[in-house]
Amino acid sequence: MVIAVLGVQWGDEGKGKIVDALCENAHLVVRCQGGANAGHTVVIDGSKRVLHLVPSGILTDGTYCLIADGVVVDLDVLHAEIENLANAGIDVWKRLAVSKRAHVVLPLHREIESIHEEARGKARIGTTGRGIGPCYSDKASRLGIRICDLLEPKRLADRVKALYRAHGLDDRRSAGSVEAAMAYLEGFTETIRRIAADTHAILFQALEANKRIVLEGSQGFLLDIDHGSYPYVTSCNTGIHGLLAGCGIPPSAVTSIVGVAKAYVTRVGGGPLPTEMEEPIQTEVRQKGEEFGATTGRPRRCGWLDLVALRYACRANGVTSLAVTKMDTLAGLDTVKVCVGYDYGAQSLDTVPAEAEALGECNPKYETAEVWGDLSGVQCFGDLPSEARSYLRAIEHWAGAEIELVSTGPERRSILRAKQLT
Ligand code: IMP
Repeated sequence: MVIAVLGVQWGDEGKGKIVDALCENAHLVVRCQGGANAGHTVVIDGSKRVLHLVPSGILTDGTYCLIADGVVVDLDVLHAEIENLANAGIDVWKRLAVSKRAHVVLPLHREIESIHEEARGKARIGTTGRGIGPCYSDKASRLGIRICDLLEPKRLADRVKALYRAHGLDDRRSAGSVEAAMAYLEGFTETIRRIAADTHAILFQALEANKRIVLEGSQGFLLDIDHGSYPYVTSCNTGIHGLLAGCGIPPSAVTSIVGVAKAYVTRVGGGPLPTEMEEPIQTEVRQKGEEFGATTGRPRRCGWLDLVALRYACRANGVTSLAVTKMDTLAGLDTVKVCVGYDYGAQSLDTVPAEAEALGECNPKYETAEVWGDLSGVQCFGDLPSEARSYLRAIEHWAGAEIELVSTGPERRSILRAKQLT
C-alpha cells in the first residue's frame, strides 16, 4: 500500500504533521524530491521538531526512512539532523538510508545561487538559499556528484574536477577550489558509508510484501518547475509525477494520493499570490498561524483560500483525498473569504494561467464564508461548528475529493480523522 502525500498550494501546507498522522503502522516513509529547502514540522507534547531532509517518519518508532534518488542532499544539514535526532535518543542510524543515486549539494551550488539571485535584482525568486536550483542544474547537465561517488575516492576526484572545469573553476583559474570541495566531501564519507543504500531494493521488497509505504512530498504543486508560476518556482517536480520519478516506483503501485491544503494560503519569496490579504488582517493571520519559514524564518505572505488554484493542483495530481490544516487559525476572524474565480482584464478565468505575470494581474472573485469560533475542544468532525463544516464541504467540492484529515492545531493530537467524518 503506497500513500503519497503532497502539497497542493505553495508549500508549507503542514505536510510534516500529516505524514506523521499517516505514519502509524507504516513500514517505510520516503522523501522523494527537493532538498533542505523543505522544513517539515511536527509538534509532540509541546516539543517542536523541524526536519529538512530526514523523513518525518523518523519520529514514529519502528518506521524505516528513505531519502530517495530524486532528493538533493545537503550533507551539512543531513549530518546535523542525524546528530540532533540521535542526541534526542532516536535510533536514526538504524532507521535511515539515503539513496546512492541521490545528488549532493555543494557549497559551490549555494554560491552560484547567491550570484544568480543578486543578478536578478528586483525579479529575484527569493529562494531558500540552499543551493537547490544549481544542484538540480548540474544534475540535468550530467555534471552532478552523487552519494555513491563519495564511496569511491578516485571517481569522486574525477567528478569534482570535471564539475569545476565545466564551471570555469579548475585549479588553473581558481587555486584550491577543487581541493576545498574534496576536503568538504571527504568530511562526510563516514556518515554516508553508514547510511548509503540502493533504496530501490528496499522499496521493492516492501512493495512485494504489501507493506504500508508513505511518500512524503516536499514544497507544493504551485511551486512545481513545470506546472507552477515559472520562474517563481523551485527546481523540481513537486507533484505526484515528481514523487514517483524521485523514488522510482511505478504509478500503478500508488494506492492513494493525499493532497495537503491549508485553510488559507501562504507563499514565501517572490512570485504571484492573487489572494494576498490586506493589512491588518494579513499580519493577524501570520501571527496567529505562526507563518514564518521553518527553513529561513522569513515571514510568509498570507492569502485567502484560492479554490481555483486548489482545483488546478488537485486535478493535475489525481488527488484521491485531502488533508486540511490550520482550520484553527481562521477561527474567530471577523471575515473569511474564498476565491472562486479570477478577473484578468476583461476576461473571467476559472483556472491558473500559464504566465506568472498574468497570474499576478488576476483579481480574485471572492465569496464570503460564514465565520466559526474556537476549535480547541473539538474531538471529532461532528463537533466542528456548522460554519467550519460548510467551509470544508466547499473545499471538497472544488477539489473533487473527500477530506480525510482535518488539523485543528499544531500538536500531533489535534487532528480529526475521516472515520469520524459522519
Ligand atoms: P528554492 O527551492 O530554494 O530554489 O526556492 C524557490 C522558491 O520555492 C522560493 O519561493 C522558496 O521560498 C520556495 N520554497 C522552496 N522550498 C519551500 C518549502 O519547503 N516551503 C515553501 N516554499 C518553498
